[in-house]
Amino acid sequence: MDRYLVFGHPVRHSKSPFIHTLFARQTQQELEYGLAEPAVDQFAQALRTFFAQGGKGCNVTVPFKEQAFTLVERLSPRAKRAGAVNTIKLTDDGVLLGDNTDGAGLVADLKSHGVTLADSRILLLGAGGAARGALAPLLAELPSELVIANRTHTKAQQLAAEFCDLGPVTAQTYEQLAGPFDLVINSTSASLQGELPPLAPALIHTDIAIYDMMYGASDTAFISWAKQHGARQTMDGLGMLVEQAAEAFTVWRGIRPGTKQVLRELKRNLGVI
Ligand code: ATR
Repeated sequence: MDRYLVFGHPVRHSKSPFIHTLFARQTQQELEYGLAEPAVDQFAQALRTFFAQGGKGCNVTVPFKEQAFTLVERLSPRAKRAGAVNTIKLTDDGVLLGDNTDGAGLVADLKSHGVTLADSRILLLGAGGAARGALAPLLAELPSELVIANRTHTKAQQLAAEFCDLGPVTAQTYEQLAGPFDLVINSTSASLQGELPPLAPALIHTDIAIYDMMYGASDTAFISWAKQHGARQTMDGLGMLVEQAAEAFTVWRGIRPGTKQVLRELKRNLGVI
């Protein structure tokens, strides 16, 4: 049977085996999908061993995405732009192809929630790996403006300079931000510590869409805060997780699974519904 897995550390709580097993059942593909948690300095060896033993493809998550970028033999254009690899496929001619489906997953999830990206003013919070992966797919949707704000302003400036050939992207400090924005995407890891990015509450209004790439069984700190200040449309990163997985499955198997039912099952599994 064709073998896939996800590499991460820690990875025990990954939802990827659950999601891909449902995709395989739905599309009647024969495959198995597991977990691998190599020591941080053992990833390269573990990856080589997996493919030497017949593995067909894998996902890569924290903290290995940047290292995976350096280990594959070929990169997709979107992985090259993201500077990170979350999906690897062994091609028919035996080449390890690195791809990045995170940004496509975010855009697909935003669209499935009915968020309009064309001609919109987007505020992206954070300038780490998650922000970098999102920038090219967001700019491809032709927003009228995309502003990056980050605690460390120089990192936002560097990202804006790197992507300004793709669209109207600029960097502003949190203090400089002037609304109204149509969509705010939180790519910071602040919610992990129950913290908030230092965003002025005045930027939140009833017609704004709020997206937090993080997710949990209950609202993230950022989503709770935005709701308190009047945001009516809030979304967490669970949909992005399922959509990036669907994109990876499509890269591997050449067949696109449906995501709605799988997202519902995942929410039930997490105790969200
Ligand atoms: P990831 O790969 O998830 O993007 P990362 O590369 O470590 O992780 O980036 C984390 C991002 O969250 C950074 O933009 C970080 O800001 P700094 O560049 O200033 O470190 C941001 N971040 C983390 N905690 C934050 C907090 N409490 N408030 C605001 N931003 C925060």
